[in-house]
Amino acid sequence: MASSAEVICALLAIVVGFVVIRKKTDPLHHIPAIGPTAPLLSYLGAIRFLNNAREVLQEGYDKYKIFKVSMFDRWIVVVSGAKMNEELRKVPDEQMSFMEAIDLMIQSKYTIAPDILVHPIHITVIKEQLTKNLAPLFPDVAEEVRLAFQELIPAKDDEWVSVPGYDTIAAVIARASNRVFVGVPLCRNAEYLKLATTFTAEVMKGCTVLAFFPDFLKPLIGPFLPWSRRAIRRMHPLLRPVIEERLRQREENGDDWSDKPNDLLMWIIDEARRVGLNEPIDLWVQGVLVSNFTAIHTSTITFTHALFHLAANPEYIKPLREEVEEVIRQENGWTKVSMNKMWKLDSFLKESSRVNGVSGIAVTRIALTDVTLSDGTLLPMGTVVTAAAASTHLDEENYDKPDIFDPFRFSNMRAEESEKNRHHYVSTSAEYIGFGHGRHACPGRFFAVNELKIMLATIILYYDVKFADGGKRPDNTWMATTILPNQTAKVMFRKRQDLVV
Ligand code: HEM
Ligand SMILES: *[C@@H]1O[C@H](CO)[C@@H](O)[C@H](O)[C@H]1NC(C)=O
Ligand SMILES: *[C@@H]1O[C@H](CO)[C@@H](O)[C@H](O)[C@H]1NC(C)=O
Repeated sequence: MASSAEVICALLAIVVGFVVIRKKTDPLHHIPAIGPTAPLLSYLGAIRFLNNAREVLQEGYDKYKIFKVSMFDRWIVVVSGAKMNEELRKVPDEQMSFMEAIDLMIQSKYTIAPDILVHPIHITVIKEQLTKNLAPLFPDVAEEVRLAFQELIPAKDDEWVSVPGYDTIAAVIARASNRVFVGVPLCRNAEYLKLATTFTAEVMKGCTVLAFFPDFLKPLIGPFLPWSRRAIRRMHPLLRPVIEERLRQREENGDDWSDKPNDLLMWIIDEARRVGLNEPIDLWVQGVLVSNFTAIHTSTITFTHALFHLAANPEYIKPLREEVEEVIRQENGWTKVSMNKMWKLDSFLKESSRVNGVSGIAVTRIALTDVTLSDGTLLPMGTVVTAAAASTHLDEENYDKPDIFDPFRFSNMRAEESEKNRHHYVSTSAEYIGFGHGRHACPGRFFAVNELKIMLATIILYYDVKFADGGKRPDNTWMATTILPNQTAKVMFRKRQDLVV
């Protein structure tokens, strides 16, 4: 009979052996880890990362140029600093892929839908038609934003009303975006909007479940995830009559009829035909849902962050209002061009994205071959790499007094003649990666920034804003790497008292 001491020694020997072997065979053993690396202990690291991603990423950023953090299903390698961001985005697509990294992290073929991955026609449409049509579609978006605010903020006379910040903004963005995605009247259809809004949550449920399984089990579990398939099925009866009517019009009147809709759904239908697909109704529905999925949540988080700054410091309203009114007077109204001249408005939103942001990481890639970085670090094939966005944005190497929200930081930088065409909200750089950076930087950012500026200008022109009792800005919460503004805080609105139209 072995004594308990012998049993303990034997077990210890096995554990040590296991750790040593793993270390020898671990393709990432040369990259320092934040948190424990031993086989089972790394799960503790994953739990810590889930709950404290901000601290974990900052610790790695401060100590190393390149480090790794543990998730439940894999390690991710993170690079630190502007120079490394630049290096990462320059690695060619054949060596590091954005699409395959997102596919791996989100498992989109199970959590979203398989067809749209094979034919990502919505990306072409967002990059080209959506961005090209910002000027002609401007009046529609501005109108939808104004109507949505009027309905959602029941402000009378000189009374202050209190509304939930996040939910109100989510509803305005869903309506304004869907005005451009599917047009009137669907963009105001409650059932449609509900499906469109909850789709993100349905996809996230699937992602959360799959993240707990190792890669080899995902294909076994994935096909049984019900949520996104159910959402797509429910969307069909809403979109199908609209699609069929458009196909009928095209049949009767040829490719360009006189009042042909100018929206994302129409562009997706046309794009599918252009690439030779035959009436793929399922793909069109998925295209709309997926565009919505990428658009709504990111824009809502971003705008709510900024609105909370405005409500906490209503003194910023005055300089913004002066700028908006001045530009509208010069330009005889609101157009896409007049928005470009509102530098302070642009700066306010960008600065809010710098200090808050949507995600702690960006520029995510997966190595398709072994890649060696300039400092000699080898990233073996299959490694997921990303950049520490939040730490980059709060690094004093990149920004003066980085912890301070300085709303006109970027417009002041642009006041310098040589800098006047830089530092726009839509510009990406090694120091600003909120929209990613490089070839795969967010193609929806021109649309998003335009929409967010219309929303901020509408609030600035028509409302006064504050928190109850001069309250401070509520803290953000990190959910894994997603940076959420407070989801329940209320914001007070009042119709502007000195409005002269
Ligand atoms: C303020 C709001 C938004 C933020 C902060 C944001 C941020 C991002 C980021 C960080 C990426 C990944 C880039 C990289 O890591 O290199 C991305 C990709 C993408 N975004 Fe956005 N986005 C926003 C709004 C939108 C909107 C409104 C749309 C569509 C209308 C959109 C469509 C996309 C698409 C399709 C991709 C994938 C690009 C590709 O596959 O090459 N985004 N976005
Ligand atoms: C898009 O998603 C948002 C929230 O995620 C939702 O409110 C909106 O209705 C959706 N729209 C479409 C067309 O899917
Ligand atoms: C959000 O803000 C409200 C007050 O505005 C506060 O009571 C609540 O605890 C905050 N929630 C979080 C998660 O911080």
